[in-house]
Amino acid sequence: MNDQPILRVLLGVGGGISVYKSVDLVRRLAERGCEVRVVMTQAATAFVTPLTFQAVSGHSVRTDLLDPAAEAGMDHIELARWADRLLIAPATANLMARLAAGIANDLLTTLALASEAQLYLAPAMNQAMWRHPATQANLATLRARGARILGPAEGGQACGDVGPGRMLEPLEIAAALRPRVQQHLAGARVLITAGPTREALDPVRFLGNRSSGRMGYALAEALAELGAEVVLVSGPTALPAPRVAEVIQIESALQMHAVVMERARRCDLFVATAAVADYRPVAPAERKLKKDTEKLKLDLIRNPDILAEVAALHSAPFTVGFAAETDRVLEYAQSKLTNKRLDMIAANHVGSERGGFERPDNALTVLWNGGSHELPLMNKARLARELAALIAERYGARHAAST
Ligand code: C5P
Repeated sequence: MNDQPILRVLLGVGGGISVYKSVDLVRRLAERGCEVRVVMTQAATAFVTPLTFQAVSGHSVRTDLLDPAAEAGMDHIELARWADRLLIAPATANLMARLAAGIANDLLTTLALASEAQLYLAPAMNQAMWRHPATQANLATLRARGARILGPAEGGQACGDVGPGRMLEPLEIAAALRPRVQQHLAGARVLITAGPTREALDPVRFLGNRSSGRMGYALAEALAELGAEVVLVSGPTALPAPRVAEVIQIESALQMHAVVMERARRCDLFVATAAVADYRPVAPAERKLKKDTEKLKLDLIRNPDILAEVAALHSAPFTVGFAAETDRVLEYAQSKLTNKRLDMIAANHVGSERGGFERPDNALTVLWNGGSHELPLMNKARLARELAALIAERYGARHAAST
């Protein structure tokens, strides 16, 4: 059972005796939730026919760049864009040389140039060819460009030699391409808040803030991917519903407070990413306010601090807060960690080039009692996965200490 989203893998098959292993590789990738499409070099078709790969992948196999019938379907540029990963296995010495030089003289090497997907190579060749300075130089070039090299393994070779050059086993390649997510939070119940709140001034107007909810939604999904049962309490956002157990929509801080306090005793972790309004109008007008005075004074009253209240509960869940600050970030975050009696806090640098509100990227400094960790600027989805892993680790450590 694999709950991870589908990963689209374009498998490029080069011409070497280990092609027979690549047939099994298609299966191993499919077991891990990958959709695989296969492209073969002409040389590869001398070892195994395209029909074999068609049968195991469930899709027709392409071998030619200038194939009018195939190009009329998904053309090679579309195919290059389709892929989340480009995996070349076996990667022969010849293929590696062409890739390193940027030569595009067949379909596979053209796709490698056209695709922005992460490139993985599983080299397979005779040990002398592998050790040759030309191959090693090509390897260094490809690595420096960001290609990930899987193997080769050492051992007996088809030609009778012994040494490095055997293609890794299909299971090892599939595992490297798509590691199984460790379900570190299996069975844990997570309550998470996200998004802004709206504090009504009258039936049509409200006080709000710039939170997009993106970080909270991404974190909710990342925690669910770690096996947690996640309930998200969200203020109004423009985001699609995340893949979590339950989403509860609210508008105001008081509504968020009521939902959270009702559920807080039934959760193991509470994560507060919401940008909750600190104040609300004392008494929202029942009818739309009229602009009949030159000055308008708003009477505001403090909202409850949801996070602090949850952290103060008897047998409180493991609590994680956020601190969005424009200056003295660490100092404020540290004092929030202590004053609100949190288990963990993620300090968010806002209003700088380091990301924050309304940006796709963000950077965080995560603090807990006795430790800290820097998560450098990266997109929020990846950042959320890294933060979720850190939360799982600290939660696990506290659990272990208390049992
Ligand atoms: O004290 P400050 O509002 O900066 O703290 C931010 C943290 O507290 C965030 O995790 C936020 O979600 C949470 N918070 C809350 N209820 C409030 C205000 C903030 O849960 N009323």
